[in-house]
Amino acid sequence: MSDFPDRNLAMELVRVTEAAALAAARWVGRGDKLAADKGAVDAMRSMLGRIEMDGLVVIGEGEKDEAPMLFNGERLGTGEPPEVDIAVDPLEGTTLCAKGMPNAIAVIAIAERGAMFDPGPCFYMEKLVTDNEAAMAIDIERPIEDNIRAVAAAKGKPVNETTVIMLDRKRHDEAKARIRETGARIRMISDGDVAGAMTAAREGSAIDLLYGIGGTPEGVLAAAAIRCLGGEIQARLAPQDETELAAVKEHGWDLSRVLTRRDLVSGRDVFFAATGVTDGDMLEGVRYGRRGASTQSIVMRSRSGTVRIVNGEHNREKLESYLKSTGLGLSEGAPIPAGTGITL
Ligand code: FBP
Repeated sequence: MSDFPDRNLAMELVRVTEAAALAAARWVGRGDKLAADKGAVDAMRSMLGRIEMDGLVVIGEGEKDEAPMLFNGERLGTGEPPEVDIAVDPLEGTTLCAKGMPNAIAVIAIAERGAMFDPGPCFYMEKLVTDNEAAMAIDIERPIEDNIRAVAAAKGKPVNETTVIMLDRKRHDEAKARIRETGARIRMISDGDVAGAMTAAREGSAIDLLYGIGGTPEGVLAAAAIRCLGGEIQARLAPQDETELAAVKEHGWDLSRVLTRRDLVSGRDVFFAATGVTDGDMLEGVRYGRRGASTQSIVMRSRSGTVRIVNGEHNREKLESYLKSTGLGLSEGAPIPAGTGITL
């Protein structure tokens, strides 16, 4: 990516995730996940259009017919070089946002063209994530019990002081029982395994390992974060019903193939930004006040390994003019504009 040497695209991407988070945050706790998602998508797309790049959405909101914006295959940016792949989740954890629960985030990752794994029709993947210290110890082809013991040994702690983060799903009942049998703790999360993977990959966090079956797009986003943060993800495609299995077979995917962080996102320069929508393990959520709003974001680049926590203060006047310029509209005391998710 010769156009990139000194341009840290992640510094531009943070404005994109801030905009999505500010929009989604208007819907926190209001029980409407579709409106929250739509607000985030509109805001993210409008900001992305201004970035100087020739972007191709590899991980987006789905196929064109279901997703009017940020659909897989959509071209974004000004159309100027560099040519890049884009993975977005304008609101990761739509239900978390709707229910006012922790760890909803707005996320984006960018890498050079062709660098991102395209999951095609495979929605689900089995994932195992840990931090740098234990990266060499994990092996998704071995039983989960072995992985827990290996991670504990690599980190020099007893197994019963080891914590696994896992989506609370019926499909994990057996693994849950086996993990508990080892003596390890489990932190169950109702949604949001991108944030879960980031916490597991971050050295010194309270989580040692993420395990379980979650979204494939979320797996690619997690891999992009891990390319920047350090740590490892190992994953295998895991279709959850006959239709998905048939589609995956037709696509020619090998279900036994172990995908690592570099298989999911290759290339030298990976850029990643995420902004908290609700308060979480890593990031504070959006706060609206009389004078405007504040955001907290993580901004990272793989090549330099720089990880920044960016606190944004969005002053009310600037926020209003920015919202007007994006065509989303804003006026004090007005009802929430249909579909935008934004008012103060
Ligand atoms: P949404 O933001 O699209 O609601 O996804 C949330 C999520 O929990 C992901 O973090 C996770 O990978 C996926 O859903 C799991 O899928 P499912 O809810 O079908 O088990």
